[in-house]
Amino acid sequence: MSKRRSQHWFGGQDKDAFIHRSWMKNNGLPDDAFDGRPVIGICNTFSEFTPCNAHFRGLVEHIKAGVLEAGGLPLEFPVFSCGESNLRPTAMLFRNLASMDVEEAIRGNPMDGVVLMAGCDKTTPSLVMGAASCDLPSIVISGGPMLNGRFEGRAIGSGTDVWKFSEDVRAGLMTNQQFGNAESAMSRSPGHCMTMGTASTMASMVEALGLALPGNAAYPAVDAHRARLARLTGRRIVEMVKQDLRLSAILTKAAFANAIRVNGAIGGSTNAVVHLLAVAGRIGTELSLDDWDRYGRDIPTILDLMPSGRFLMEDFCYAGGLPAVMKEISHLLDLDALTVTGQSVGENIAGAVNYNPQVIRPIDKALTEQGGIAVLRGNLAPDGAIIKPSAASPELMVHRGRAVVFEDIEHYKAIIDDPDLDIDEASIMVLKNCGPRGYPGMAEVGNMALPQKLLKQGVRDMVRISDARMSGTAFGTVVLHVAPEAAAGGPLALVRTGDIIELDVPARRLNLDVSEAELAARRTQWVAPKPAMEGGYQSLYVERVLQADKGADLDFLVGCRGHAIPRDSH
Ligand code: FES
Repeated sequence: MSKRRSQHWFGGQDKDAFIHRSWMKNNGLPDDAFDGRPVIGICNTFSEFTPCNAHFRGLVEHIKAGVLEAGGLPLEFPVFSCGESNLRPTAMLFRNLASMDVEEAIRGNPMDGVVLMAGCDKTTPSLVMGAASCDLPSIVISGGPMLNGRFEGRAIGSGTDVWKFSEDVRAGLMTNQQFGNAESAMSRSPGHCMTMGTASTMASMVEALGLALPGNAAYPAVDAHRARLARLTGRRIVEMVKQDLRLSAILTKAAFANAIRVNGAIGGSTNAVVHLLAVAGRIGTELSLDDWDRYGRDIPTILDLMPSGRFLMEDFCYAGGLPAVMKEISHLLDLDALTVTGQSVGENIAGAVNYNPQVIRPIDKALTEQGGIAVLRGNLAPDGAIIKPSAASPELMVHRGRAVVFEDIEHYKAIIDDPDLDIDEASIMVLKNCGPRGYPGMAEVGNMALPQKLLKQGVRDMVRISDARMSGTAFGTVVLHVAPEAAAGGPLALVRTGDIIELDVPARRLNLDVSEAELAARRTQWVAPKPAMEGGYQSLYVERVLQADKGADLDFLVGCRGHAIPRDSH
């Protein structure tokens, strides 16, 4: 057997080995800690600024116990924690930065395998992207969702009910006092958002991809099952190192196809699109935006969770979790795909049971016949745009309307509640310059709130189009990720108020009804917007970020660079 990777640091009797071992011993490690046992890095995204991951100091102890029980040496290391609720201008701006931190920390340190502790939205893709660029044996454990929110006698969901409540306040249907009370009632325990928002979606995606143990997606953060799963994850990574079971063996095209299908079945977040494209780019598996439509198109949404449906993650857990969903759609999955358990998807889900068909519906009683993500194209989005039909209004899926254009998010905020704004419920709201380069960081502002005067008339949804993303907890007939984005000179930059736009989701079309000659004339007058901030990481990001249809990674980060280190001395 070839020498373990960590033994290139800790093995031998020379000066370098002395240095590597001696300093580690200041933590109380005995000689036999360096005897060739698997060294397991535990990549921790704990931060008190990331409340969704703030319980990770406790969770990590269970992982360490599992690693020790299996005969490994656990060594924890911190990485940049992208917290959704606090980071400005948007956590997505830092996903790629965090992934660089993860990649370099894994490659540069003496570890044989790694446990990735993910939770809040961007922490999952940033960890998996960084690890995929190294391709060591790796396993994900998610921190788990919060318990269901409870307010005025009913369950309320993270994010989803914030959007509803804030519109109710603007429409005069809820008092400020109630709004304040709901704030304290929504987040009742450690954990991440407990709707099927981006965090729960990504926890489901890593399970569907085969990167986490079965059950990872749904156990609440405070459930003892979560701690047990962490312990089993610690044990399992040691075995994965012994078997040399690496990410490249798991992240195959079949795994991505499974994940896309599962995303449709769970009514998952649109953010999974950019994240999975970016992960595939790192490991070197061919995956395109059109694969989202190809694999996801006919997948019914069977999970009745907010924002598409009624229930929350705690209910999902009690109903059987993701294995039960995967069992319901098993005829649509590639059951031979390999997973971190060392077994196939089919073997992992063989014993799964659906305990609550109201939450996980049988396939013939689906919530939406065609769930998944629809990929739209046309002269307004030559490189594609997406919409989540299960979160949209059926009557708006084919719609022709007059554009009301907001040049950027500040312009939108300045005029949206102007009583004189010429807008009605048939209008199409168009927001520019919120894409990867434009914002920068592709903010979650695509689900723009509707004008107050229309809310007061009872209007609850309108077609909205932008190069932005939207929160996975949000809903509405919202066309997102338009590529190329406005700030890169895409056709979106040329739309003017009064233009007619045609949206046809069944035909997968998004067209701007303006002649080519007129668009060419407008293009000669177009001036690229100035970056919001000069210098530092933001300038690097704006210069090198790829468009949404390519996963919005930085161009120089695409690909797997492996875990070898060209130079090994200090
Ligand atoms: Fe962290 Fe929603 S804010 S998961």
